[in-house]
Amino acid sequence: MLQTCNECHSLNFVTAELNKGDDMIKTTDRLLAQAIQVVAGLYKDGTLKKPESYAYPFPDLLTFHDAPTPVEQRLFVMFLKHRMRAFQGTFHANPDYALWYGWSEMVQDLSEIKRMAEEMRH
Ligand code: HEC
Repeated sequence: MLQTCNECHSLNFVTAELNKGDDMIKTTDRLLAQAIQVVAGLYKDGTLKKPESYAYPFPDLLTFHDAPTPVEQRLFVMFLKHRMRAFQGTFHANPDYALWYGWSEMVQDLSEIKRMAEEMRH
């Protein structure tokens, strides 16, 4: 692919641009992993019970908006809406979109998921 880009851009430029996208994926995955661990903790300590439809007592990201609890719905939005925007915005050289509609939303998702988990244990 770099050869194709190189028909018009320098290799240094496109390599740096593509690396920004890869780095964003890694960074967003770290945020998402923290959120998954928080929700997994709710299953682990019995705050959440395994739904009939789940294979394991563990958050199932592919339930989408049909996830059974608000905390898991927030996790789904973090994963499939905000994470997508963060790295796709970066690959499309759109830092404003990647930051405000992606990354910033993910940071808020994580705080909200932590807060909800705390409240659910009371
Ligand atoms: C046929 C020529 C051509 C090819 C091939 C091409 N680009 Fe571009 N690219 C352009 C042009 C022209 C612009 C500037 C568009 C503008 O400023 O409106 C641009 C803009 C960009 C920008 C935005 C730069 C900025 O500062 O806003 C990025 C990032 C980029 N290209 C990455 C790539 C990558 C990655 C590839 C390979 C997958 C690629 N381009 C292949 C012609 C090309």
